[in-house]
Amino acid sequence: MPLLPALARLRVEVFRDFPYLYDGDIAYEQKYLRIYADTPGAAIIVARDGGRVVGASTCLPLTAETEAVKKPFLDAGIGISRVFYFGESVLEKPYRGQGIGVAFFQAREAQAAGYATTAFCAVIRPPDHKLRPRDYVPLDEFWRHRGYRPRPELVCSMSWRDIGESAETGKRLQFWTKDL
Ligand SMILES: CC(C)(COP(=O)(O)OP(=O)(O)OC[C@H]1O[C@@H](n2cnc3c(N)ncnc32)[C@H](O)[C@@H]1OP(=O)(O)O)[C@@H](O)C(=O)NCCC(=O)NCCS
Repeated sequence: MPLLPALARLRVEVFRDFPYLYDGDIAYEQKYLRIYADTPGAAIIVARDGGRVVGASTCLPLTAETEAVKKPFLDAGIGISRVFYFGESVLEKPYRGQGIGVAFFQAREAQAAGYATTAFCAVIRPPDHKLRPRDYVPLDEFWRHRGYRPRPELVCSMSWRDIGESAETGKRLQFWTKDL
């Protein structure tokens, strides 16, 4: 799958920033990202400038995701076979604010045809986090404009090593959903 190295690079670069602060490893990423190549119904949408991949966005049926991602839906009694899950959207900074993020949502919702609900999750960080940039603007309004609403009762856990930390720590991620 020729796109996986580009997607791995983008994730490691873009997710270094607040709120993800992810100290990623490209070799690990490429293994983890195989799920998008191996899962029927999954897709990777890319933005290119010339031949270079400058942004990417992923999606797949929730049933193919990890137990950690499925858990809040199962605990809430939601039928996961009707939910289509959006992974990351990652775009290099110079390309933001031109409608590419909107196009990523449109393409993934088209891929979700036949499902009842689309969902994604976003890391929860305290408002006074020491690495929060003064000019940080949360994506909440952008997501609301795409028709998504936060679901405080749907929260999952993941672990990764934050920039500047020596060990992985657990994070809580809040889901947002939209009924199609
Ligand atoms: C999330 C991310 C991909 C959004 O990408 P983006 O391309 O900057 O977003 P867009 O330009 O499509 O949309 C931003 C706003 O600009 C508007 N916009 C600007 N130019 C536009 C155009 N030409 N056409 C359509 N909309 C445009 C959009 O309508 C939107 O405003 P709205 O929410 O009021 O409708 C990008 O911010 C990013 O990579 N962030 C870091 C990683 C991250 O946090 N990802 C999300 C969690 S995985």
